[in-house]
Amino acid sequence: MLGSKRKDDPIIIAGQKIYEMDCLDGFKLLENESIDHISTSPPYNLGGFHADRKIRSYAAFSDDMPEQEYRAFIKQVIKECFRVLKKDGSFFLNMKTRIIDGVSIPPFWVLDDNPFFLKQELIWNYPSTANVDKIRFFPLFEYVFWFIKDLKGFKWNNEWAIIGNVWFISHITDRNETKVDEGENGSQHPAPFPTQLSQTMVLATTDEGDTVLDPFVGSGTTLKVCRKYNRKGIGFEKYFSHYEKIARQRILSDDFPPTLLELKAGKNAKRRDYGGNLDKFMQ
Ligand SMILES: C[S@@+](CC[C@H](N)C(=O)[O-])C[C@H]1O[C@@H](n2cnc3c(N)ncnc32)[C@H](O)[C@@H]1O
Repeated sequence: MLGSKRKDDPIIIAGQKIYEMDCLDGFKLLENESIDHISTSPPYNLGGFHADRKIRSYAAFSDDMPEQEYRAFIKQVIKECFRVLKKDGSFFLNMKTRIIDGVSIPPFWVLDDNPFFLKQELIWNYPSTANVDKIRFFPLFEYVFWFIKDLKGFKWNNEWAIIGNVWFISHITDRNETKVDEGENGSQHPAPFPTQLSQTMVLATTDEGDTVLDPFVGSGTTLKVCRKYNRKGIGFEKYFSHYEKIARQRILSDDFPPTLLELKAGKNAKRRDYGGNLDKFMQ
């Protein structure tokens, strides 16, 4: 109908496009080899529970598929990422080891029957966790799998090599933006990327003007980074209305920590470069 909003019209926030839809429907809108970079963190399939099924998350959905169905879904997403990514593009997939009924399930199954080359596995290490059961060592890292299509011709800003393959990134640097407001459902997200994680993935493997996709865009961190650094971001989020408030706030935010590269290269940087807060970010 004239003037009505079609389901596949994007919501545009500061030039960044978000489609409120299942990502497998969203992929159908994208041409083969049209995207320069993909980074994403899929749902965990922990039944809405985190931390050994004890802490109820405030996710907008049940996050509870039969495990085999969940794995088939993620593998389908990986295949679609392969289809839409340009030959010189990079795909970063963040997954964590899940603890289900006391058993650790690392995410290595995503490597089976995977059309990409695994360029590198990276570790995102954080200083604290909600899972503080003293029945195991506290889980303090997640995997980031860096996938490429062409071993020789992939885009890579090699000054980033010096940050190494273990990325120490605290959620705490983003606390103001992702603060949970108990009284206001819709302003919160259970598992936002910290800005530094998105900065690292996007800036190390794209150039200005590149098109970046996050199929599970959540609170919009990937698009926040795209806006700041002049990339064209596209996000799919099945439950976007639930997260729209925090996503708008985040995408429009100018609150950025220094990048891991600035921290590494700038151990001797003057404090004023970071508004006097350099210590907060230094390891
Ligand atoms: C781990 S979170 C991603 C968080 C995101 N990286 C951020 O910075 O906020 C996964 C997101 O996927 C969304 N989601 C779950 N199933 C989906 C689907 N089939 N298609 C698109 N989004 C989906 C969830 O609502 C959730 O926001």
